[in-house]
Amino acid sequence: MRLLTVSGVGHGVAQGTQASSEGKTISPAWGKAREGGSELYLPRDRRAAQRGPAARSPVFYNPAMALSRDLTIAVVAAFAEERGHPLRAWDALSATGVRAVRLLRETRAMGEILCTELHPEALQLLRANARDWGGDAMVVEARDARSPPPQGPFDLVDLDPYGTPAPFLEAALRSLSPGGLLAVTATDMAVLAGPERSACERRYGARPLRTYLCREAGLRILLGAVRREALRWGLRADPILSYAHDYYVRAFLRILPARGEDPLPLRSIPFEGYEGPPLPSSARGGPLWTGPLCDERFLEGVKPAGTSADLQGATRLLEILREESGVHALFHYEMGEEAKRLHLSEPPSRGAVLEALRASGWKSARTHVTPSGWRTEAPPPEVARILKGLDRR
Ligand SMILES: C[S@@+](CC[C@H](N)C(=O)[O-])C[C@H]1O[C@@H](n2cnc3c(N)ncnc32)[C@H](O)[C@@H]1O
Repeated sequence: MRLLTVSGVGHGVAQGTQASSEGKTISPAWGKAREGGSELYLPRDRRAAQRGPAARSPVFYNPAMALSRDLTIAVVAAFAEERGHPLRAWDALSATGVRAVRLLRETRAMGEILCTELHPEALQLLRANARDWGGDAMVVEARDARSPPPQGPFDLVDLDPYGTPAPFLEAALRSLSPGGLLAVTATDMAVLAGPERSACERRYGARPLRTYLCREAGLRILLGAVRREALRWGLRADPILSYAHDYYVRAFLRILPARGEDPLPLRSIPFEGYEGPPLPSSARGGPLWTGPLCDERFLEGVKPAGTSADLQGATRLLEILREESGVHALFHYEMGEEAKRLHLSEPPSRGAVLEALRASGWKSARTHVTPSGWRTEAPPPEVARILKGLDRR
């Protein structure tokens, strides 16, 4: 790839001015830009870059994932606070290195971050970002993330792949120190929550649930797969914050030595004693994680840093996750589904449903999974009674 020496030359980058440090080389395909509270070099052709590996721009950067990075920064800062020392981290699938740059520049949580990548052009951009924005703490290596790097163990490993994280789970889990944090994204929602059933069985050892609950079930399938892989290595993976958003799911899990009862929260749907929202008789799926999606106590310490308008998405999502984590219920209800099932003629608003459920003494909250859904500890007949009472006929 042709490199350009930049010395005060403007290139009209939409989101920032061109780097001007004497003698520093960057490709004309990159420009200085800003995400969150950090400046760094990003591909100029972001539209192409976000489409994935086959797209025209070879270096991946997806601006729509800024929310995932905003939240990661808040979670990692809270985790480091709890851990009591700066974190050694492995950003296994680094691309531009935007996660590492932001963690280093926007938190005081980080010691050293090892950034690995295989794509040659991504590596060039990653190295330029490390040199100009990451300092000595950001170490770049051309390395396959499917095997554990010798620099481990780490306090934090972040897996943010195209599609499935399955090929990288083993290396990540084996690279974490006891009590370490695994951050993992999956964007293969057609597999986790859609029609690609056999791919789901192959990648995650589970069947997707083909109902309105498919996205929450997809998140729980990912959590279950991480949990099972951890058990193979004598470890236990406890979710401390996990969510489904747009076209991806993301989870943060604390990795500890396993205990005897660990396989228990993995179940296939339906299971005996299931008491959640009514499921169609055809609903079959899993095995999946049936425990909590978030750790209520950990969430209290998670605060998005900074004041930028960009953080509104992460702040709102966190607010709902906090509310939701106080309600201990597997699966959420959804108004359209309930209206159909109960033949409601004018379904009430979610606010009215929550008010009525709480007035009857049931812990209930909005769910982050869908704007028309809620989570409640009320048993299904009680939910049905309350919804029918609210029908605005
Ligand atoms: C979705 S992108 C990462 C995005 C990045 N984490 C971010 O926040 O913008 C996935 C990256 O993983 C790299 N990759 C794919 N397979 C890899 C492997 N086996 N080892 C190391 N890197 C790999 C790809 O080249 C690509 O740049």
